Amino acid sequence: MHGIVTGAASGIGRASALRLGRRMKVVVADRDGDGARRVAAEIEAAGGQALGVEVDVTSRAAVFAMVERARRAFGPVDALFANAGINRRNPVDLINEADWDLMIATHVKGVFLSCQAVLGEMVERGQGAIVNTSSDFAVMGVAGNATYTAAKTAIYSMTKALACEFTPRGIRVNAIGPGPIDTPMLASGRTPEQHAATKQKFANILPLGRMGQPEDVAVVVDFLLSERASYMSGQLVHPNGGQLMW
Ligand SMILES: NC(=O)c1ccc[n+]([C@@H]2O[C@H](COP(=O)([O-])OP(=O)(O)OC[C@H]3O[C@@H](n4cnc5c(N)ncnc54)[C@H](O)[C@@H]3O)[C@@H](O)[C@H]2O)c1
Repeated sequence: MHGIVTGAASGIGRASALRLGRRMKVVVADRDGDGARRVAAEIEAAGGQALGVEVDVTSRAAVFAMVERARRAFGPVDALFANAGINRRNPVDLINEADWDLMIATHVKGVFLSCQAVLGEMVERGQGAIVNTSSDFAVMGVAGNATYTAAKTAIYSMTKALACEFTPRGIRVNAIGPGPIDTPMLASGRTPEQHAATKQKFANILPLGRMGQPEDVAVVVDFLLSERASYMSGQLVHPNGGQLMW
């Protein structure tokens, strides 16, 4: 078995790569190449096989080159976790065009290109599993997050379209919709005081009474990419502490 994880140098991607590394060869891909290689080394130190690759998921050439490198290293790709992401929280009047373009390119184009790059071979082999990282925010209204919510809803919607197109050909495509997870992304753009207050707020309001940890998401990703989820496709699955129930 062989899987690719994007955004794997940090947070949810890192935890998922480490977990998948227990049962498959993993390509650890991130725009932070040194970080990706560090996580690959962690997997190897734990007895797995991994390759750290620098990639910018907004570039078609870079994404296809990453998949080619993955194939050369470990053979056909069985699993993809398209997870790379960024956030720029701002009220609408402060969102500039460059931030809008980068958010949509990273999330929507990045997930599309990552899926496109692996799907051809998966179709030829009649097998494969994909998980795309959306968010609870795909289906919630959230102030100060117009670009992020737009991008995450697009990923959810694209996941359903891909599932309709490719599930009959043997490839399951699902999305995850995490709630608040304690990763560097949650801290970015916030002062240490704001970060601490955000964590406290979530501990107070979430039914499960705590922020999520990256491993809380990784276990769901591992499940969705495994045969145990063989009857699931086109779903948005929420490791979210009960933040959203619908
Ligand atoms: N943390 C949360 O509360 C939360 C909740 C819901 C969804 N998410 C989503 O989970 C995913 C992972 O986020 P995280 O919280 O682990 O954040 P993180 O910042 O810890 O990790 C994101 C990783 O993506 C990489 N990345 C960013 N742009 C890239 C690009 N163009 N090409 C390649 N790699 C790129 C970063 O270098 C980083 O290593 C994101 O898609 C995020 O939107 C996070």
